[in-house]
Amino acid sequence: MEPRLIVKNRVESTQDEARKLALKGEPEGLAVMALDQGQGRGRLGRSWVSPPGKNVALSMLLRPEVPPGDATLLGMLASTAVAETLEILGLTGVRLKWPNDVLLDGRKVAGILSEARVNGSEIEFVIIGIGLNVNTATEDFPPELRQTVTSMAASSGREWDLNEVAGRLLERIAALYDRVGREGCRFLVPQWETRWLHRGHVLVRGDTKGTAVGLTEDGALLLRTEEGSVVRIDSGEVNPAL
Ligand code: BTN
Repeated sequence: MEPRLIVKNRVESTQDEARKLALKGEPEGLAVMALDQGQGRGRLGRSWVSPPGKNVALSMLLRPEVPPGDATLLGMLASTAVAETLEILGLTGVRLKWPNDVLLDGRKVAGILSEARVNGSEIEFVIIGIGLNVNTATEDFPPELRQTVTSMAASSGREWDLNEVAGRLLERIAALYDRVGREGCRFLVPQWETRWLHRGHVLVRGDTKGTAVGLTEDGALLLRTEEGSVVRIDSGEVNPAL
């Protein structure tokens, strides 16, 4: 797949821009990037706030020939692509938090929002949204987030060219996606797990608490509870037990 990039100054959400194009029949591989979003969306109904011109916010349209159950794996493809991009650019200590946050120095540097349109037993298209903190300074993050988020610049002490970062990222997405085309999705989970921060850690989601023992082939999280049963978690917010 040959990625194509459109850059806009300001949109409400790049997810919506990419979706409109998808509904008009746009072929896969198009990424819509915006320097500013009025209503950037995060996972779980949250908003994604990013100061104008500082960070990469883009949405890529894919039309994968995989079963709808594998849609989650495309989010893992995206977080792996972000991790690879950071490493190619020389950053170290890149880790992943389930389902697909990217961490630098233990703090969130990128988030992924994957939205699929399914038609019967087929995925019609998936829009992979990526928000990557590139040049935000620590003091530009709201005080309540400063301990938990970071940017490439805050971690490395230098500024980065947004176009270069976005270009590299699209290359890595395309390389992983081409591999999915050749081999299917099954390599994505083991690849994702090589950077997994929380293997063996005790994690909590709502009332469920257990040791993170692994992931399923389709990307769900497996927690072994104190009673010894293994619980499958398909979505939501999972954090280390305090
Ligand atoms: C998260 O909650 O961690 C996911 C954040 C995803 C944000 C990106 S920015 C580009 C794209 N457009 C959006 O409105 N959201 C995603």
